[in-house]
Amino acid sequence: MTVNRNLEAAWKYHNATKHSHASVHNNPHFLDWTNQPLPFKAYTALEPLALPREARQTGVAALSAIAESILTDSSAVPDLEALAQLLYLTAGITRHRKYPGGDIHFRAAACTGALYEVELYVVCGNLADLEAGVYHFSPAEFALRRLRTGDYRQALSEATASETAVIHAPLTIICTCTYWRNAWKYQARTYRHFGWDNGTLLANLLAVATALGVPAKVICGFVDADVNRLLDVDADCEVVFSLVALGHAAALARQLPSELSPIHWESLPLSRNETVYPAMHEIHAASSLRSAAEVETWRVHAPLAKLPPTTAPIVPLHPDSDAEMPRDPIEQVILRRGSARKFAQVPIGLPQLSTMLDRATRGIPADFLDTQGAHLNDVYLIVNAVEGLEPGAYAYHRDGHVLECLKLGNFRAQAGHLGLDQQLPAEAAADIFFLMDLEMILERFGNRGYRAAQLEAGILSGKLYLAAYAQRLSATGLTFYDDEVIRFFSPHARGKSVTMLVAIGYNAKSVLQR
Ligand SMILES: Cc1cc2nc3c(=O)[nH]c(=O)nc-3n(C[C@H](O)[C@H](O)[C@H](O)COP(=O)(O)O)c2cc1C
Repeated sequence: MTVNRNLEAAWKYHNATKHSHASVHNNPHFLDWTNQPLPFKAYTALEPLALPREARQTGVAALSAIAESILTDSSAVPDLEALAQLLYLTAGITRHRKYPGGDIHFRAAACTGALYEVELYVVCGNLADLEAGVYHFSPAEFALRRLRTGDYRQALSEATASETAVIHAPLTIICTCTYWRNAWKYQARTYRHFGWDNGTLLANLLAVATALGVPAKVICGFVDADVNRLLDVDADCEVVFSLVALGHAAALARQLPSELSPIHWESLPLSRNETVYPAMHEIHAASSLRSAAEVETWRVHAPLAKLPPTTAPIVPLHPDSDAEMPRDPIEQVILRRGSARKFAQVPIGLPQLSTMLDRATRGIPADFLDTQGAHLNDVYLIVNAVEGLEPGAYAYHRDGHVLECLKLGNFRAQAGHLGLDQQLPAEAAADIFFLMDLEMILERFGNRGYRAAQLEAGILSGKLYLAAYAQRLSATGLTFYDDEVIRFFSPHARGKSVTMLVAIGYNAKSVLQR
């Protein structure tokens, strides 16, 4: 049995990192501001290569860009300008605010605690205006740093067992996650945040790729040690979490396995000292794939997360068609996005909610999903204030575009409690929860399924964020009391586990300005 098949590991991590009222209120952890991690990875000995700042406007409506993907067998090779735009709208600095404790450089995608533990790297062949190489993206300078010179795509082809999208990709973006940068605040729960924060960022990346006419595919199946070695990251601190193959070109010729020499580029320490949370390293090791053969068997045939047929009353949804929907372009919507800090307690429209649910769940091109629109997560809602929809708890059935009513009532207070006793979910017009059947997912994917399901929830949440802002609404990701959420949605949700929560509504600020 491979380590990935020892399913106890994922259950152990998941159960140990659940939030309950007691676990949150008895936790003696405090933020040591004198030891706050650096928000950026800073290589000390490499010169930055500035990226072009003039971005072309795609003009593609955000609500189309998040819902569609480009399927092509013809050549699609991004140039440096397109790569710069992809990187900027995925992880670039879009806002900057000064606080008494220091500066926060807010990024294109939402991230727990604004701690930005996800780093991006590029592995490419020769592109127009960019030599083949392995590069690190520095959002602070909006620049690349070359870690290796030459075409290393063969290493990715081997590590992904010749995944079709990878062998045809002129470039692949690799996302790594840095434990301490997020664990400084969130301790061992950070490993869940890896999926969420990597996911919101991928929602942007996938949408921008679509707007630029570039095919993209998310890859979760790879030999971990080999991709870590390609980037030469210190895997005790930073690990590869996902890859995105971008573009389409003639397939790489198969070559002999490539030898990778260590490169040892120094980077600044993040903090004076770092605390290690062993639970995260355990789940990472237990969900690692160790050979190309293991990757190959891992990625075939995903199950569909099908809800049982409806038994309770249903409400049909009426999402906007392409002709009816707001057409604000994706780049404008990404720049406008920023998490709501206070919602106005005014209703949103049922077409707005319908459009968000419809557009955000039309499918993700990923190696762990075999059919368009298949998902590992199910969608549950607490509706507080949506015109034409009675307040209550609902399950969303994507196939029929209907909400199944689980119970009616005003659940604002419960929503606030379930969302870790915060005001935001109580004030929101709707709270959208992602729930997974962890047993089924682990059965199919082993522990690696835990990563895939958290990542998918992050991508779906990122799409919801964009769908909200495209309609001039606001959104925020939220954390939650795990078991209480399941109890709230049971018996329908019995046996499931929560992955993420996004609250939606009108921003209090924008309502005041109207
Ligand atoms: C998965 C996730 C969970 C979050 N949880 C909370 C939360 O519990 N409470 C909160 O106020 N904000 C939460 N946020 C919002 C972040 O604090 C916010 O994204 C971050 O400060 C960056 O700001 P921005 O989204 O405005 O760019 C969450 C965001 C994400 C992506």
